[in-house]
Amino acid sequence: MVEGFDVRKLILQAFGARTKAYAPYSGFCVGAALLSAQGRVYPGCNIENASYGGTVCAERVAFFRAVQEGERDFTAIAIVGAPNDAKAEVYAYPCGICRQVMSEFCDEDFMIIVAKSPEDFRVYSLGEMLPHGFAL
Ligand code: THU
Repeated sequence: MVEGFDVRKLILQAFGARTKAYAPYSGFCVGAALLSAQGRVYPGCNIENASYGGTVCAERVAFFRAVQEGERDFTAIAIVGAPNDAKAEVYAYPCGICRQVMSEFCDEDFMIIVAKSPEDFRVYSLGEMLPHGFAL
């Protein structure tokens, strides 16, 4: 347990989301599982596009799904990512745009979990990942 929720379970949900990744151009498949304060989990996978700029990251898919469902209060996100043909997992850190999107809806203590497996993960706060983020 990390801060009152089952981090292993959230990581497994991120792995489940990753099976849906659409990544024919980069071959890098990402899955995310976003936990709301109410305890609901929103999965996301990366969805690429032939016009590369149209690609959306797994984390933002998860956030946009959740916000569309009326959620505005979030506790943590688990992220897993690796090349299709990878022999080993890597820690997949969220890109800058996704960190900025997280900062739109989350406080500095929002937890970002990057995982290679349910047993091998690192936990960061959004404040660590995006110090001095842009805000209006
Ligand atoms: N990607 C994510 O899904 N999340 C990130 O935070 C970084 C990158 C995806 C986008 C693209 O489909 C692939 O990884 C390679 O950049």
